Amino acid sequence: MKYYLRTYGCQMNVADSDEMGRHLQARGLTPTEDPEEASVLLVNTCTVRQHAEDRAFSEIGRLKKWKARQPGRKVVITGCAAERTKEYLENRFPHVDLVVGAKSIEDFGRIVDGLLDRRSTDEDLEYAIPTSDDKVSAFVTIMRGCNYSCTYCIVPYVRGRESYHPIEQVLAEVRDRVSEGAREITLLGQTVNSYHRDGSKGRDTDFADLLQEASAVDGVERVRFISPHPYYMTDRVIDAMATTPQVCESLHLPVQSGSNPILKKMLRNYTREHYLALLEKLRAAMPGIAISTDVIVGFPGESDADFRETLALIREARFDWGFIFKYSTREGTPAAAWESFPQERIEERHQECLALLDCLAFDKRQALVGTDHDVLIESGNFGRTRTNYKVQVEGDAASGDTVKVRITDAQRVTLSGHVHGSRQTSGYMDGHVIRN
Ligand code: 5AD
Ligand code: SF4
Repeated sequence: MKYYLRTYGCQMNVADSDEMGRHLQARGLTPTEDPEEASVLLVNTCTVRQHAEDRAFSEIGRLKKWKARQPGRKVVITGCAAERTKEYLENRFPHVDLVVGAKSIEDFGRIVDGLLDRRSTDEDLEYAIPTSDDKVSAFVTIMRGCNYSCTYCIVPYVRGRESYHPIEQVLAEVRDRVSEGAREITLLGQTVNSYHRDGSKGRDTDFADLLQEASAVDGVERVRFISPHPYYMTDRVIDAMATTPQVCESLHLPVQSGSNPILKKMLRNYTREHYLALLEKLRAAMPGIAISTDVIVGFPGESDADFRETLALIREARFDWGFIFKYSTREGTPAAAWESFPQERIEERHQECLALLDCLAFDKRQALVGTDHDVLIESGNFGRTRTNYKVQVEGDAASGDTVKVRITDAQRVTLSGHVHGSRQTSGYMDGHVIRN
């Protein structure tokens, strides 16, 4: 019996989908890329912006026909929009068999057992040997939920308060992913660097400790993490990043706005000055670090002056790349009660912000032409630098290898380069890591 999994939204959802996939595989199901072959179809939804939710709902609507073709098929809706609109989904789409909200992902195995036990599917369960994902780069969830209450954000409502996985569990998952072929581990959480947990060292284990311990797992060549909150980017964390060779020189650090009054209304708990000082510290500790960000334009009350402050911050911060989001009203959040913005103004600001960021990102990429980087090959001839630039590589390189690559072209978002110098099969295994 096969399952098809469709994921909307962020990396957290991608990791949840991987986790649900592992539960299904442990029960003998195998993944398929073709919905027509599937007996169980999962849609893992996102609700962070209205657009993401609308797309998932129209897909769920279309599944009515998919199910009608073979009525024994199962439709399972999971994730953040499922948490927010469980009742609506059940009433509006009677062809949906199971709704599992984002807060219940950790119970997914037990919940799905109930569904599969009904055995009303067309086929018998063939208890196949679980397949393992042969992924060079894997996610490991270390915490769930968010204790912040950014006034625009629905996440704390649909994912709940923070909870942290025990460090032993995190390390066991890292070892599992490595044994399945992973060389690079991305630690995941909504505010990933707020991680802490009772430790054996007579004090809390914090995110800095976790970075070091995950890096020390045999076979781990690279460690990344998303998404950190600027408030928890402490000196300890920066120091752990700089002194742990496996931790890559790249950071996605959402700023959201460059205006202090807006940051205050958003309840972000930092100022533009604090944020920019943080970038200086990071660059001093890790020269060459690539930094990316998230920005929201059109937040209620964002004046022209506020917006100019955001543009100025983007210039000052010299981001490598970033996501610019149009503000989307999320029912139930504090900002939803504030006077919203004309849509065309949001569009205009979005365009202007995107153009600026694209231009800065292009200059950054151009400056890479002629430089050498260690590229970890992920699949085909595509890999990533430690700074998280995607590179199409010409030359002798196989998935899982780390090769020295000279960048030859940077017109497009994906860089091009060729293998330069001798091929190394995992620099780390050889006892050293070559840094950029
Ligand atoms: N509208 C627009 N963007 C949002 N984000 C979160 N909530 C909203 C919203 N209501 C953006 C933030 C966050 C990213 C994951 O999504 O920039 O960092
Ligand atoms: Fe949302 Fe803010 Fe929590 Fe991020 S830190 S998930 S933006 S509430």
